[in-house]
Amino acid sequence: TMLFLCSLCVALSAALVQAVADVTENIEVLAFLPQNNSYLFSSARVAPAVLYAQRRLEADARFSGFRFNVHFEDSDCVNGAMFALVERACARKPHLILGPVCEYEAAAVVRLASHWNVPVVSAGALAAGFSKKKTEYAQLTRIAPSYVKMGEIFAAMFERFDWRSALLVYEDDRQERNCFFTLEGIYHMLHDVDMKTYPLDDGVALDTDKVLQNIVDTEAVVIMCMPAEKIRELMLAAHARQLTGGNHMFFNVDLFNASSYGNGSWKKGDKHDNNAKQAFAFLNTVTLLRTVKPEFEVFSEEMKASVKKAEFQDCNDCADVNMFVEGFHDAVLLYAIALYEATKHGYSKRNGTEITSRMWNRTFEGIAGPVSIDENGDRNGDFSLIAMTNTSSGTYEAVANYFGGNGSFQLLPGISADRFTLKGQRKPPPEITEKSCGLGVSALTGVIVGAVLGAAMLITFYFIRKNYKITIERRTQAEECNTAKHRQLREDSIRSNFSV
Ligand SMILES: *[C@@H]1O[C@H](CO)[C@@H](O)[C@H](O)[C@H]1NC(C)=O
Ligand SMILES: *[C@@H]1O[C@H](CO)[C@@H](O)[C@H](O)[C@H]1NC(C)=O
Ligand SMILES: *[C@@H]1O[C@H](CO)[C@@H](O)[C@H](O)[C@H]1NC(C)=O
Ligand SMILES: *[C@@H]1O[C@H](CO)[C@@H](O)[C@H](O)[C@H]1NC(C)=O
Ligand SMILES: *[C@@H]1O[C@H](CO)[C@@H](O)[C@H](O)[C@H]1NC(C)=O
Ligand SMILES: *[C@@H]1O[C@H](CO)[C@@H](O)[C@H](O)[C@H]1NC(C)=O
Ligand SMILES: *[C@@H]1O[C@H](CO)[C@@H](O)[C@H](O)[C@H]1NC(C)=O
Repeated sequence: TMLFLCSLCVALSAALVQAVADVTENIEVLAFLPQNNSYLFSSARVAPAVLYAQRRLEADARFSGFRFNVHFEDSDCVNGAMFALVERACARKPHLILGPVCEYEAAAVVRLASHWNVPVVSAGALAAGFSKKKTEYAQLTRIAPSYVKMGEIFAAMFERFDWRSALLVYEDDRQERNCFFTLEGIYHMLHDVDMKTYPLDDGVALDTDKVLQNIVDTEAVVIMCMPAEKIRELMLAAHARQLTGGNHMFFNVDLFNASSYGNGSWKKGDKHDNNAKQAFAFLNTVTLLRTVKPEFEVFSEEMKASVKKAEFQDCNDCADVNMFVEGFHDAVLLYAIALYEATKHGYSKRNGTEITSRMWNRTFEGIAGPVSIDENGDRNGDFSLIAMTNTSSGTYEAVANYFGGNGSFQLLPGISADRFTLKGQRKPPPEITEKSCGLGVSALTGVIVGAVLGAAMLITFYFIRKNYKITIERRTQAEECNTAKHRQLREDSIRSNFSV
């Protein structure tokens, strides 16, 4: 009888354990992705990656206690995601939010989610303002390297090559403002550098003479973010004016379309091709350093098949697995790991604070390689510098890499540092103290817009336009600028609604 009782006991406890394991926790995931395929992170591109990750989790015994129910909502890069979130959350709050990518839309969603203690993981929300996690963006984890992380490669180069001034030239559409936010990240990272900014109006023809005059005046490293045609136009003009001779450095930032570089963006099939090839020999492009491991190929093939099935029209780079596709896959994985750990330690799946904190300050294996998230919940970024290495064929290669994990900038073998030496650099200019500062000027206009919104829109709009024409400011006391910059995203989002 003793033996019988004992085995009964074992059987019972086994059944009990089984019963516990059978209680699967439903995890509601709300993903915000645009239906509009003109975005690199559109639902048709990214959703297959999220579902791929979901299937991987289902097959993994560690996560057998969870069922991930993914619900996709449209995001229109304005307010769509916020409205959808509010409406859904009235019935039931999600356990995890993926996206949105667009800055202004993300700002609203992340503020709400942080208030509700719901983790948000996004491969977007890359603007500097989101680095402030203490309060309104507390629940945000960024699974793709932010613009400030990208700024690190510039900081490393400015230090290594002893460059002292920079001219930031960017096109500003004042809606999504991708180039504005991209260069703002660099602005944050360059300390003790004399900086000027030169915003260009969206849709207005480039006044190359004016830009070139600024380049001549500043003796600076020129950092550009604008459409490929404008880059080409400016490089052609700069080359014609012999500004490419070594007194200036030219950079552009193109994080998301790296595939096109091997293809030679100087080539357009017009009569300027030959000059453009010569001019582009002096252009350096900062892009994401992407690693590939064998497992990635399977993923990549599957993504390409899904995209093919979606049958987009007008789509050149559709087949590429871009950073957003990769990022949202890894987002699901990272959340699952954190959730698993948190529940194992007795926390509820609703405890966003706990789960989010477990996503931060850790390295895990993503679909393409290791992903490291810093102590502030932002991914460390690796970047490459691409430049023309064969001037007769006009082909590009990576010439240097920057690793965010250890902050090391490495020239690749066979690449000489001479390439980056500025000839005839002036002595450092004297300190000039001014109240306003570079990109910070938009914070200023933001305050004004906020104050008079609804009362004198026309006057304000006129003011902004006037302010934006040419904003050349000298960078000054870091302290003052930083406070202004931290407020920037909040105030910009006020203006975004206004200018849309
Ligand atoms: C998709 O987005 C592009 C760029 O933002 C816009 O021009 C286009 O009108 C949008 N298409 C639709 C169907 O909303
Ligand atoms: C990538 O770059 C090529 C060439 O510059 C351009 O034609 C294409 O539209 C770009 N794709 C995206 C998605 O930006
Ligand atoms: C360059 O890219 C364009 C569009 O992405 C493509 O049509 C063309 O065939 C490419 N050229 C080469 C030489 O790869
Ligand atoms: C969530 O976890 C934190 C520890 O990270 C704990 O202090 C807090 O009480 C938990 N909140 C809830 C609602 O359980
Ligand atoms: C981050 O992790 C390291 C070790 O993995 C630890 O020493 C450090 O204290 C952690 N930082 C925070 C803020 O938790
Ligand atoms: C540059 O490209 C041309 C044409 O493709 C090739 O013949 C030449 O060997 C290349 N030069 C070097 C140094 O690789
Ligand atoms: C930094 O990290 C990269 C990749 O993780 C590695 O290849 C490189 O050697 C490291 N550099 C230093 C100076 O530790």
